Amino acid sequence: MTNQPEVQINRGLRDVYFERTQSSFIDGREGKLLYRGYNIHELAESSTFEETTFLLLHGKLPTKVELARFEEQLKQDRKLPPEVLRVIEITKSAHPMDVLRTAVSALSAFDPDARDKSEEAVLRKGIRLSSQVPTIVAAHHAIRHGKRPVPPSTTLGHAANFLYMFKGTEPTQRAARLMDKDFVLHAEHGSNASSFTARVVVGTDADFHGSITAAIAALAGPSHGGAAEGVMKMALEIGAADKAHDYVKNLLAGGGRVMGFGHRVYRAEDPRARHLRDDVKALSEEMGEPRWYQILEAVVDAMKPYARRGIHVNVDFYAGAIYYLLGIPEDLFVPIFAIGRVPGWTLQVVEQQRNNILIRPRMLYTGPMDVPYVPIDQRQA
Ligand code: CMC
Repeated sequence: MTNQPEVQINRGLRDVYFERTQSSFIDGREGKLLYRGYNIHELAESSTFEETTFLLLHGKLPTKVELARFEEQLKQDRKLPPEVLRVIEITKSAHPMDVLRTAVSALSAFDPDARDKSEEAVLRKGIRLSSQVPTIVAAHHAIRHGKRPVPPSTTLGHAANFLYMFKGTEPTQRAARLMDKDFVLHAEHGSNASSFTARVVVGTDADFHGSITAAIAALAGPSHGGAAEGVMKMALEIGAADKAHDYVKNLLAGGGRVMGFGHRVYRAEDPRARHLRDDVKALSEEMGEPRWYQILEAVVDAMKPYARRGIHVNVDFYAGAIYYLLGIPEDLFVPIFAIGRVPGWTLQVVEQQRNNILIRPRMLYTGPMDVPYVPIDQRQA
């Protein structure tokens, strides 16, 4: 038996720092999140998706002129090539995340900067993709219901345009603002699983669309972006606030996890959650459906004993209820997370490329050693 080295195994790369970043700062104990140094609370209340995207990609808040130019650029980039609409048509019966992943991959064939890996080109591709991802999600939703996709607006803001393409009518200011805030809250989050995936792919010098396609695949899982879908399914199953305690007790007793709770980094409440909680409360009362907020709060109450172990609500806990109240079906919840996250992924790709290195950790082998090869006709059944 060859001697194996004494190594420390950090399963799941828990608490491992692998790079420096200027993208975002997370203090998991305090429940603090900064994008490019700016507090998420101020951005959630005062910024827009467009302004936050500019901040993430350029490292500073835009002037009025810069913001107007940037908003215009985002509006101009919204259309999809007809070939990509055909790809969506062919794959329309798949989960919207599978369709999104496939369509983003297909877009690489039509991107004017496809072969250009310069930082300027990557930024252009990231801005273009930020515009195109909402169009993919809305177009697929129309196509799978046998409808023609609503062409993107050339005047509405990013969030309002998404709701417009999704519903076919212009959203209220309130609905557009809620969506916009949701996109700001999801825009960037350090080396989360999908952004790390994007870095791993681009670490091999692979291209931008490949890294975002892989990031979308990583986001889809219920431990990451898929949790919002799970939260609303859980709320629907619970049905009434007085049933929440028993539901949670049974779920945990069976070894299940309460979706929308827990986080690898936060030991305090996820700072993004509070903004969406206030919105769910206001929206559900306004719409005469206060039970959704009441059910969620009853789940929070049932999970109180776990707060001592650092398990609190995360951003996904309230996000699903907002989408549900806005009339958005559950399987679009993760794609909506993806719409918000494109700028963050782009920034991570740009940072990785600037000082690129192959990301290639090691695993400690624990299998048998030097096993003699037995020819197939001499092997025992
Ligand atoms: N419900 C019940 N118990 C939980 C939960 C939960 N949601 N989350 C963690 N725990 C327990 C877990 O069972 C473990 O207990 P024990 O030590 O007795 O085995 C302990 O807390 C530590 O859990 P862990 O699996 O080591 O923590 P992790 O850092 O690997 O997992 C997580 C983080 C997000 C995958 C996990 O908390 C989870 O599965 N949560 C539910 C899914 C969810 O809401 N995901 C969205 C994350 S936020 C959005 C995003 O940025 O992606």
